Amino acid sequence: MINIAIDGPAGAGKSTIARRVAEQMGYIYVDTGAMYRAMALYLLRSGVDAGDMDAISARCREADITLTHENGEQNVLLNGENVNGLIRTPEVSQMASISSVNGDVRARLTDLQRKLGREQNVVMDGRDIGTVILPDAQVKIYLTAQTRVRAQRRYLEMIQKGETADLDQIEQEIIERDYRDMHREIAPLKQAEDAVLVDTSEMTIEEVTDRILAIIREKTA
Ligand code: DC
Repeated sequence: MINIAIDGPAGAGKSTIARRVAEQMGYIYVDTGAMYRAMALYLLRSGVDAGDMDAISARCREADITLTHENGEQNVLLNGENVNGLIRTPEVSQMASISSVNGDVRARLTDLQRKLGREQNVVMDGRDIGTVILPDAQVKIYLTAQTRVRAQRRYLEMIQKGETADLDQIEQEIIERDYRDMHREIAPLKQAEDAVLVDTSEMTIEEVTDRILAIIREKTA
């Protein structure tokens, strides 16, 4: 199986790019962040306190998270319910970053992610894909961009959806999330030694997609 790992900080464009690359290659796209988000939604609904790691460890066992793929789109199911439309809020983003520090939460999702990589050609995006989940991936990309640029992209996305947004607040949340994702004990976000760094600050979506497709061609030739 061919495995392509795309890691990087919040808002670097991983999901947009990974989806396009998967489409071009005819591979399955696996958004692992969505799995952490579905888990966070479950914990929020359960009323678990974000600071209570024991409660997070206990309650996460009740969440059954699975993925299905239809017409190139990934559906995340939480105990059988499709939660795709419910997991992109700032509240879920923060809870996903907090609860993904927990080893029990990670263990539950890690097995499923590895299994997908064993069974199918995948483009998988996340924080620890190249370092922990798929260390033997044929292609590893570390996608990043300047913090302000990432905040601006998120801001535009929200404005386009008709939501209200505050650029400084979004940037602050991204900085907090990056810090937590990079400094946690288990599977922190970092560039794998054999990953290719792509800084998208001054690149369009098309340029990034083309660059990654070129890297894939080179590495799998
Ligand atoms: O990629 P995202 O913004 O949807 O991810 C949400 C959170 O989930 C992120 O802040 C950290 C966590 N996460 C993780 O710990 N490991 C992954 N492979 C993917 C996401």
